[in-house]
Amino acid sequence: MTQDEARPLLQVHGLSKRFGARIGCADVSFDLYPGEVMGVVSESGSGKTTLLNCLSGHLPPDAGRVMFDTRTDGMRMNVSAGGNVGERLMAVGARHYGDIRGQAIDWLALVEIANDRIDDRPSQFSGGMQQRLQIARNLVTGPRLVFMDEPTGGLDGDNRAVVIDMIAEAKARGAAIVSIFHDDAVREQVCDREIDVSAFAPGLRHDGPHDRNCGSLRRGQGYGDAVDGRG
Ligand SMILES: Nc1ncnc2c1ncn2[C@@H]1O[C@H](COP(=O)(O)OP(=O)(O)OP(=O)(O)O)[C@@H](O)[C@H]1O
Ligand SMILES: [Mg+2]
Repeated sequence: MTQDEARPLLQVHGLSKRFGARIGCADVSFDLYPGEVMGVVSESGSGKTTLLNCLSGHLPPDAGRVMFDTRTDGMRMNVSAGGNVGERLMAVGARHYGDIRGQAIDWLALVEIANDRIDDRPSQFSGGMQQRLQIARNLVTGPRLVFMDEPTGGLDGDNRAVVIDMIAEAKARGAAIVSIFHDDAVREQVCDREIDVSAFAPGLRHDGPHDRNCGSLRRGQGYGDAVDGRG
């Protein structure tokens, strides 16, 4: 296990959201690690979408903490700008030199680093250029954390397979995913873990606890950013 795998990408502690007197979700806690796909289960109206909306920042939680691992992997000052972007692609399996260089050029253009600077080292860049290069380096390998609410809902078999492949690809490059799947077969195929949102505060709900909560409570340290529901 690498150091990155040993440390959660997302930590959620005691997350609660009410809508007036109605409970959206209550006291949800879990840690999520790189490469994990976690399914959110429980019956209709029990808070799955509310939880996802609080995690993604679409809804402010009333209580609890959501902490993302925002560490960035540092730029290498003596490797060319193109190499700084390209080595991240190689770290997730890219091998074709032309493809890697092409993608590096595209990403540098996106952050407004001119094509003729691709072979220069960041030590020769201005502060702003270094900062933009760091952004390209961080984003080139895609998002590390993905939230999805029924991504296969209403899709036919072929399109469902496309979504399942995309999830597998994201997982393979170390992304972590929290998703609601109403399709049991898809959920069983792609999820490593499930949490039952209604199991965290069973006393608050008339339907009682469910038994599928296998959310672990391992803890990590050194988090950069926290969204604090008590703000
Ligand atoms: N914007 C809102 N205003 C008021 N109540 C809301 C709002 N959004 C959700 N709720 C309530 O919060 C509870 C949880 O709803 P949520 O949409 O999270 O459930 P769900 O588990 O995603 O259900 P489903 O499986 O049907 O999609 C429900 O009682 C719902 O009525
Ligand atoms: Mg929902």
